Amino acid sequence: RVLDGDGNVLVPGIVDCHIHNREPGLEYKEDWESATRAAAAGGVTTVVGMPNTDPVIDRPEHLELKFDRGEASAHVDFQSYAVVTSENLDLIPELDATGALGFKIFLGSTVGDVPPPSDGKILEAMEEIRETGKRLGFHEENGEIIDHYTERFKAEGRNEPIDHSHSRPVIAEQEAVERMITFAEETGTKIHMFHVSSGSAAEAVARGKDRGVDVTAETTPHYLWFTEDVMREKGNVARVQPPIRDAAERDELWRVGIDNGAIDCIATDHAPHTAEEKKVDDPFGNTWDAISGFVGLETEVPAMLSFVDQGRFTLEEWVRRHSARPAQVWGMYPQKGSLQVGTDADFTIVDPDREWTLEDRRDLHSKNCVTPFEGESFTGKAVATVVRGEPVFEDGAVVGESGYGTRVDVD
Ligand code: DOR
Ligand code: ZN
Ligand code: ZN
Repeated sequence: RVLDGDGNVLVPGIVDCHIHNREPGLEYKEDWESATRAAAAGGVTTVVGMPNTDPVIDRPEHLELKFDRGEASAHVDFQSYAVVTSENLDLIPELDATGALGFKIFLGSTVGDVPPPSDGKILEAMEEIRETGKRLGFHEENGEIIDHYTERFKAEGRNEPIDHSHSRPVIAEQEAVERMITFAEETGTKIHMFHVSSGSAAEAVARGKDRGVDVTAETTPHYLWFTEDVMREKGNVARVQPPIRDAAERDELWRVGIDNGAIDCIATDHAPHTAEEKKVDDPFGNTWDAISGFVGLETEVPAMLSFVDQGRFTLEEWVRRHSARPAQVWGMYPQKGSLQVGTDADFTIVDPDREWTLEDRRDLHSKNCVTPFEGESFTGKAVATVVRGEPVFEDGAVVGESGYGTRVDVD
């Protein structure tokens, strides 16, 4: 286990299957170059971009554009999901042939203009996607339930951001997870739940797995680290969709999701926005228009190593969920997520004992670095990142050429 005299440990390259790299179209927030620079600095060797860009990744041309931009500027290897809306069901085979890693459906309104499809369209999409052999992931919150509570909370004059996790309640997530598992059971489609935030939703995933449905799930370091108290401490900075939950839901997420295994993967939901959009100057303003999401690529390995240090995970269990398992879930294994000889392996070297505090978010490498992890202390850090034999991060610096990173070929 111990690699060198300093106690550093070599692990397979960390695979983050949920980042918003924002390119094409939203480069004022982030782009492939800056997102993958942050990935390299954070010990992440493969990233998968979300499709809520401008244009959204709903047509083969848009997917090609996204791939081309990544080839031109990425520091680490990458892939992308294609989005499914009511309008593009007929394009699913072509999006598959163009090389999309998988598909995503947004079940409620989120950042970007991606209206959710009707239940009928979702069932139709599932049948199409089943034929591709690829997996369909969900932004797993029921938009109608959220709209209902948001309208009520606004009318009652309740305070955002303090009440954020109640205007987007746990039942909106749990219901969506249960409904999509039911649909997948009917259609035989492989599905995935992105960013599971609550124990209740993790329990729904566990029930689906018990019934034999091919449902996988992911959670993020922020749902494991914080409770909704962070909204009182950091306000809009910690605003995210789904929201950070209360201690009971968080503890149940640990128990059912991590200890009992309902959660397959760790990912960040790295979602950069400008300081103005995040309203960092007025974090407690009673506003409903502060944007959701924050960066995470450079705090995910430290957060997870801190959990290892606390005895919440073994090193092996953490690495499995942050490398091999996501690569398997999305069909990239053993090309990614493995140290097998002959796979052109990626690896990350971590110092599991390094104690440090993220004093200033400007030390991060993204274009916009607002995060509730600013001010948090960690035990553990990535010290080197190696992609296909070439270092992309060492001695505290991102090294090598932008554009070295390449698309992971899954076909
Ligand atoms: O908080 C979020 N931000 N949740 C999402 O689902 C989207 C993301 C973004 O794109 O900023
Ligand atoms: Zn989402
Ligand atoms: Zn996301």
